[in-house]
Amino acid sequence: MSHAAPTPALEACRLSVMRQGRLVLDSVSFEVPAGSFVGVLGGNGAGKTTLFRAILGLEAAVAGTVRVEGRVAGHRARGAQAGIGYMPQMRRLVAGQLSGWHMVAAALGGGVPGLPWYGRAARARVDAALHAVDAGALAHRPLASLSGGERQRLLLAQTLLDEPRILLLDEPLASLDPARMRETARRIHDLARARGLTVLMSTHDINPLHGFMDHVLYLAHGKALLGPVDEVMTTPALSALYGAPVEVIHARGRVFVVAEGGGDTLHSCDCAGHMA
Ligand SMILES: Nc1ncnc2c1ncn2[C@@H]1O[C@H](COP(=O)(O)OP(=O)(O)OP(=O)(O)O)[C@@H](O)[C@H]1O
Ligand SMILES: [Mg+2]
Repeated sequence: MSHAAPTPALEACRLSVMRQGRLVLDSVSFEVPAGSFVGVLGGNGAGKTTLFRAILGLEAAVAGTVRVEGRVAGHRARGAQAGIGYMPQMRRLVAGQLSGWHMVAAALGGGVPGLPWYGRAARARVDAALHAVDAGALAHRPLASLSGGERQRLLLAQTLLDEPRILLLDEPLASLDPARMRETARRIHDLARARGLTVLMSTHDINPLHGFMDHVLYLAHGKALLGPVDEVMTTPALSALYGAPVEVIHARGRVFVVAEGGGDTLHSCDCAGHMA
């Protein structure tokens, strides 16, 4: 007797998504185990953001399905797939004198635009989210006075408001310095472990995720490959994914994915190459 396999947090089954007449995701299949921390890699236009939007139901599939915790994610007109906290890549940052607290609160559903009034339960949720990312000290600071990294922390707090079980973070490390990247990756990792969250984090630099990441989900040419870092970031695996011979070169702790014969660098990333 074998036990039933646990339900994956996310499951794409022959998922195809088209944008501007192009199949950005072309019959992509993968399973993300619950509680896994996944680095989502791929060059510009590879479909990382499109995949996140498809998981959220914001992008319609032309074929195939996405399952979130076993349930088929239908196409939604707007936002809020239950159980998922989403940090979009394109972030509208309201600046000015608005406080950090109010910026986080702005992501609460059901508020009345223009009326900065929140009930006791709503206030407690905002306070808890700020506390979770160690941003209590930013609550009363005007956004205009915060650094990019401090604002990123508030954006992360926003994703936690509804006690999600899955986080989709689209390039949350962009524009951070290397030390802050590492610190942010660690914060997200520790938070996810403590709460048993599943995390998909897209990034162009996997070095800050060293030691935190369980899996890589690599997107190229409409295809996807998900697996342990050591298995995905290899010449045979990525050649198969690109559908052309590519070489994965490890040099000085960095990994380069180059076309065979010394052609263009298809992808480069800082990565120790032995991450588990
Ligand atoms: N709003 C949009 N309307 C139409 N096509 C889009 C839109 N956004 C992206 N696309 C197209 O979909 C494809 C995949 O884009 P996507 O944003 O998913 O890539 P990405 O992997 O997130 O890239 P990046 O690393 O630059 O963020 C690209 O060819 C892009 O031009
Ligand atoms: Mg993107």
